[in-house]
Amino acid sequence: MTSTELAGATALITGATSGIGRATALSLAGRGAHVLVSGRDAARGDETVTSIRSTGGKADFVAGDLGDAGAVRELARAAVDLGGGHVDILVNNAGVFPGGPTSATSAEDIDHVYAVNVRAPFLLVGELAPAMAARGHGAIVNVLTMAARFGMAGLALYGSSKAALTLLTKAWAAEFGPSGVRVNAVSPGPTRTEGTRPLGDQVDQLAALAPAGRPAVPEEIAAAITYLVGEGATFVQGAVLDVDGGRNAT
Ligand SMILES: NC(=O)c1ccc[n+]([C@@H]2O[C@H](COP(=O)([O-])OP(=O)(O)OC[C@H]3O[C@@H](n4cnc5c(N)ncnc54)[C@H](OP(=O)(O)O)[C@@H]3O)[C@@H](O)[C@H]2O)c1
Repeated sequence: MTSTELAGATALITGATSGIGRATALSLAGRGAHVLVSGRDAARGDETVTSIRSTGGKADFVAGDLGDAGAVRELARAAVDLGGGHVDILVNNAGVFPGGPTSATSAEDIDHVYAVNVRAPFLLVGELAPAMAARGHGAIVNVLTMAARFGMAGLALYGSSKAALTLLTKAWAAEFGPSGVRVNAVSPGPTRTEGTRPLGDQVDQLAALAPAGRPAVPEEIAAAITYLVGEGATFVQGAVLDVDGGRNAT
């Protein structure tokens, strides 16, 4: 779909070199946003940028390792520069989702998952939301997971990190909402991406537990993110939109 709904807006999307983030980048660019595609892999980033530009959209790649706090702050500064002095939309999509028994989880594993899934969004919001608030508008979407809603054996670390991001969504809605910055979240169910491909049949087995009975494609999650940053959601704040094929209802 092509529209000009987001014309003039700059959107920083983390993890836009793959999967849900890439689909979101294409979607927001298709609505006129200048999309800043972020990730570590420049080749995949360039591929996303090229796809957007080939359809007349505006995009640039901005590298950053979200596991490094200094690099996260540098990413925010680079995004503002590339964005012509403003970032209006932030999609905290990048995430790591290792599974395994709690007893086999090391301190380093915990630090890494929390650095990428919690600390990086926290620092990006701290760097970018105040300027949005000063301008009186902005939209932030955090990408969660249905595994933050209930206990799943093997997903204690991942689920807990996204549960922290769930609370942060509400805390930031309370903090920045009065200044015109809407903060919301999307909670996906199993989705076919480069990141879940190594899981093979497990994705289908997990998806089979939900009413939809199948995994999502990235575009279905991107559509919800696009709604939350757009004109149709101007009164939606602090919400978690479940896009999980109905798993939350069962
Ligand atoms: N797919 C699912 O079934 C599912 C379900 C629920 C929630 N989610 C959530 O949705 C989000 C996207 O998932 P996905 O399946 O699309 O993931 P994916 O295909 O594995 O892509 C992950 C993205 O995150 C980036 N990333 C990972 N570690 C990073 C780091 N240290 N620094 C910077 N970027 C990093 C990757 O970029 P580079 O490799 O270029 O660095 C890549 O663009 C995640 O937050 C995930 O938890 C996914």
